[in-house]
Amino acid sequence: MTIILKIRKTNPEIILVKQAAEIIRKGGLVAFPTETVYGLGADALNAKAVEKIFEAKGRPADNPLIAHIADMKDVYKLASEVPKDAELLMKEFWPGPLTIILKKSKIVPDIVTAGLDTVAIRMPSHKVALALIKEAKTPIAAPSANLSGKPSPTDANQVIEDMLGRVDVIIDSGSCDIGVESTVIDMTVKPALILRPGGLPKEKIEKFLKNIGKEEKSEKPKSPGMKYKHYAPNAEVIVVEGSKNKVMKKAKELVEEYKSKEKKVGVITTFKEHGYDADVVKYVGNTEKEVARKIFKALRDFNKEDIHIIIAEGIEEKGIGEAVMNRLRKAAGYNIIEVK
Ligand code: TXA
Ligand code: MG
Repeated sequence: MTIILKIRKTNPEIILVKQAAEIIRKGGLVAFPTETVYGLGADALNAKAVEKIFEAKGRPADNPLIAHIADMKDVYKLASEVPKDAELLMKEFWPGPLTIILKKSKIVPDIVTAGLDTVAIRMPSHKVALALIKEAKTPIAAPSANLSGKPSPTDANQVIEDMLGRVDVIIDSGSCDIGVESTVIDMTVKPALILRPGGLPKEKIEKFLKNIGKEEKSEKPKSPGMKYKHYAPNAEVIVVEGSKNKVMKKAKELVEEYKSKEKKVGVITTFKEHGYDADVVKYVGNTEKEVARKIFKALRDFNKEDIHIIIAEGIEEKGIGEAVMNRLRKAAGYNIIEVK
């Protein structure tokens, strides 16, 4: 049985927050909104409770979780070492869409970190998330609240699609402002490494950290989550990348090609006036921020439409566009066509 609690995004009803927090305290699962995507939370210090997260999502046990906090002081409980540069980022970007990897302390159960000696920590800025963590009086371990492999949920209906009957509570506070997950940065290495581009653009971090490395593509990614199939709708996805107008021209050719093969074709476009002659066309806005907010829902909703192939226009990799392209390419299984 899953209880659905509607809680206001601004000025959350504290009685309802307390009801959800009580479930966390008792070792239950609560799906809750953050400014990036919805999370699936349990008491981070209770190994049995955290185990239920892996079960509910079907998540591989070697993929560690983020511990969410509401008070800066908790970093010093969860981490055994906090470098000066990490403190700088915490002060600048928390609460917000940045996850910081630090050496873990003994109180963090191994199941949270998948046995690694590091822990991922983030202070979200969403008022409901902050209130929930405060009332639970414990850090909350939470991955995105989707079934493993599916696009992350950016509103409560998407959480309900995946998690109804699998969790104790789903909090519904409407849609998430950012729409892609947090940026993950490893502060245990020098130079610091961005393991996952996300809601906080690299350009902003670079103003405070001069020297940032980027994870090389290797057999064993340092962020375990990056190696799995991700964000994939049922249909095959092709991403077309390059200059805006050439992208559209190529995408139109592809639409015609697949239609002539009797395929049902979907398109994700950034042109309001696009002129695609496809079975389904989803307009996701024409700024990087808008596309970030809408991309996961667009990918997810294609599953309701019996489409064989999705042609997605790539966008510029500036600002949050880098995170959007990272997710799109994964959704496509790196099925990318570049037009020069
Ligand atoms: O915005 C977000 O980050 C959302 C909301 C709910 O906070 N959460 C989220 O969690 O996206 P999840 O589990 O879907 O992604 C966490 C990522 C994974 O790629 C995981 O492998 C990585 O962070 N990660 C967690 N702990 C790590 C660690 N100790 N070292 C390296 N990577 C880690
Ligand atoms: Mg996830």
